[in-house]
Formats: sequence, structure tokens, C-alpha cells
Amino acid sequence: MYETLKRFHERPAPFSYYTTDTLWTDPHISGRMLGFHLDESSDLASRRPAVIDGIVDWIDRYVGLAGKRVCDIGCGPGLYALRMARRGAAVTGIDFSTRSVDHARRMTKAEGADATFIVGDYLKDEIPGGQDLVCLIYGDMCAMSAENRRAVTAKVRRALKPGGLFIFDLFSQGQFAERAESTSFARNMMDGFWSAADYFGFLKVFLYPEECVALDRYLIVEDSRSFEVFNWMRYYSPQAARAEFDGNGFQIERLVDVSTGAPWTLSASPFAVIARAS
Ligand SMILES: C[S@@+](CC[C@H](N)C(=O)[O-])C[C@H]1O[C@@H](n2cnc3c(N)ncnc32)[C@H](O)[C@@H]1O
Repeated sequence: MYETLKRFHERPAPFSYYTTDTLWTDPHISGRMLGFHLDESSDLASRRPAVIDGIVDWIDRYVGLAGKRVCDIGCGPGLYALRMARRGAAVTGIDFSTRSVDHARRMTKAEGADATFIVGDYLKDEIPGGQDLVCLIYGDMCAMSAENRRAVTAKVRRALKPGGLFIFDLFSQGQFAERAESTSFARNMMDGFWSAADYFGFLKVFLYPEECVALDRYLIVEDSRSFEVFNWMRYYSPQAARAEFDGNGFQIERLVDVSTGAPWTLSASPFAVIARAS
């Protein structure tokens, strides 16, 4: 236990460990995650319904969703996908959380929407081609290493029609400035979120100012097992976003406020990148 805690306290290199699938596909955690997605008063897994409505509104104004082919990668329980389908888009949602995809399929069937949901890993599987729009929403780009961001962006480029759009949101440098390093622990941390068994949860927040990266490192210790979860987050300035995403088959058209689609003014809020396949 001493060795485990000692290692837990050490600062790993940015993005040196990946546990994203544990977070979204572990049977217990993914159940609690789905609860958060659908909890209209929580922003933990998805934004609140009024904000999602606003986002789909501006995307529709920008893209004209009716009659378009749209792929929402990392779609979760389909909160955006279904709204876009209601506006006349033919939507494919991809997510590796079976629990979320099952929910999205149930909702689709109930309302007879034009949406298809695939259980898949957008880091490993190809994205269906011929898309007018691909979206990746709620900062998922920020949770990936530079290598994975490049791989996903190249995949999206292949899936888009010429002139198609890739819309994704990024957490901003201003948000990074509001973060602080910390260490905490609690019995059954986050109200039993991490396991159905009794456990002690430890959280250590590391900041990497040079890379503009934060790590929330969790250690969950039960009677008979322990495991760690690494939640990485890369934060962006507009310059860093342009340097990374303008080029390689994309031209950035706009950086906009995530909630409203209005031009983004430097602030401690996330922004969305609207990039056109060139
Ligand atoms: C923060 S949630 C956002 C869900 C949805 N976009 C929303 O805002 O309601 C991230 C989603 O991405 C999915 N995800 C993460 N990495 C993935 C991967 N490599 N392939 C497929 N889905 C992934 C998770 O299962 C989760 O549903």
C-alpha cells in the first residue's frame, strides 16, 4: 500500500497513461455516468438541456442540418444526435459505451428518428464516409494525447465530403488559469461513483503549465483490489488551436463561443472550432 500511494503521488509525464475506457465502459462507472448524462441539473458528463438546445441551434444555423449527413463521434446517449435528427439530418452516433448507445437506440426507436448508433472506438475504427458534418462535443479532443488528436483529426478528414465541416470544442487557457493543484481523499469518494463496493478514493490534481495540461489522478482502493484513473485535459489558447488544427486538410473558419456560436472573445470559457475540409 505504501508503494502504491508513493507512486500515486509522483507526477507522470503528460498523457503517459490512458484509462479513458475504464471511465466510460466499466459496468459500474458507465452506469453512474449515464445517470450524470441524463441528470438535467448536472454538467459532469453532458451539458444541461438548455445549453445543448442552444448549441444545436447555432450548428443548425451554420450548417443547415436538414438533409445533411452528420456523424457525432463520442455521442454518449445521443443528446445532440437526436436533436440534430429532429432537424432533418441523417445522423450516425459512435460511442464505445454500450450503455449509452443502448439508451440512444431506445430513444431513437421511441420517436422514430433518423439516427443510427454504433458501438465503436473512434481511435480504432473508421468513421463512416460521405459526411457533411462530424462533431466531437464536450472537450473530448482535450482528453487525448497529441498523437491521438492527430489520428482522430485525420480520420474525420477521411470521413468528410470535400467542403464538409468538423466542429469540436476545446477548453481554454483561461479555464486552465482557474485550476489549482490539490490532494484529497474520501471514503466512497463522489458518493459511490467509482465502485459498488466500499472504497477509499484519493484524488491528486497535477498541473503542467508549460504544456497547458491538467491531470486528475484517482486511486480507488477497495478491500480486494485497487485501480487508478487518469483524466488528462489539454487547454488551448486560440493561437495554439490554430497552430494545431489549421492545416492537414482543414481550414479553421471560426472560433466561436460554445453556447451561442457568437465569435469567441478571450475568456475563461470553452470555445468551439469550426474547421472546413479543404
Ligand atoms: C464527455 S462525454 C460527451 C458525450 C456527448 N458528446 C455529450 O456531450 O453529451 C464523452 C463521450 O465520449 C465517449 N468516448 C470517449 N472516448 C471514446 C472513443 N475512443 N471512442 C468512442 N467513444 C469514446 C465516452 O463513452 C462518452 O460517451
